[in-house]
Amino acid sequence: MIFIKNRKPTGRIIKDLPMEVKAFRWLPGELKVLNQLKLPHKEHWLSFKRHKEVAWAIRDMVVRGAPAIGCVAAYGFVLGVKYEGEDPQEVYETLKNTRPTAVNLFWALDRMMKALREGRDIEEEAKAIEAEDYQINRRIGELGASLIPEGAKVLTHCNTGALATAGWGTALGVIRSAHYGGKGIFVWVDETRPYLQGARLTAWELVKEDIPHKLITDNTAGFLMQRGEVDAIIVGADRITLRGDVANKIGTYSLAVLSKHHGIPFYVAAPISTFDPKLVRGDEIPIEERSAEEVKNCFGCKIAPEESDALHLGFDVTPAELITAIITERGVVENPNEEKIRKLLNL
Ligand code: MRU
Repeated sequence: MIFIKNRKPTGRIIKDLPMEVKAFRWLPGELKVLNQLKLPHKEHWLSFKRHKEVAWAIRDMVVRGAPAIGCVAAYGFVLGVKYEGEDPQEVYETLKNTRPTAVNLFWALDRMMKALREGRDIEEEAKAIEAEDYQINRRIGELGASLIPEGAKVLTHCNTGALATAGWGTALGVIRSAHYGGKGIFVWVDETRPYLQGARLTAWELVKEDIPHKLITDNTAGFLMQRGEVDAIIVGADRITLRGDVANKIGTYSLAVLSKHHGIPFYVAAPISTFDPKLVRGDEIPIEERSAEEVKNCFGCKIAPEESDALHLGFDVTPAELITAIITERGVVENPNEEKIRKLLNL
């Protein structure tokens, strides 16, 4: 892992920064994945040579974040079809049936199937998905940074950084670009119960790059807004419908409602691959329900009575009306609605 210290803001957007953090690395016939369950205390890499191992890694959140899941699934497809010689449909289904909400997973697998049908090299296709995602994030970062005022205190939720993508990040990519652009920003990091992607992953990425930040419990966000301590909120997305409703990590909707009440801009940063042109409304998005045990336990430590049941919804849906703008590589959609999104997607 590359760790470059003391990179200070230069007052301009830097085009050629090396990637600080990688969630995964492809070697011919082998996918190396940074085990995100061990972060921030251990940088533990796993090596996969079979598509079923990749499916396990996605399901168990060893690797997570919508664009990263798409990239890793594409490499899983290459392992299964090209290196294991398995039936493509079987490989496709195994990888597809891992997590239901992030549409990037299905988008990437469909793209791999298309490449196979057209007789193209599927390994090159997976590499292209990864390379494009990094460039897309850089573009989202540049566009998004222009919306962030000098010296802003920006609040973010979950992890949308290099660990959640092929590098740089979506919402955290905007934060990175604003920081390296010399905006002098400060970041409030929601810890993001129950998986603690904010505390474990976003804070880890920000520490690595000396980006000023403070971690808060999720329930602190509203009070900070009331006290005038938040200038903008920026989050990622797992699926965006045609009318601009956004599925993202559970807790996003509460932030959006609070931001409306306090008149704080609420931005969503996501690539075009996160839009689902088949769905119009947010209530059509399948919401992942994970094990109650993930709420009742916190990394091996029991925190609730054995007898209590728990509800663990992985995502929620924020209606378009609460969103100030969606930042994509094709441009910024202010006050998103169906007409604007159809135009964005050339539909
Ligand atoms: O359950 P996770 O950790 O995969 O959820 C991740 C998120 O909700 C992110 O905000 C989203 O995938 C955007 S990542 C660039």
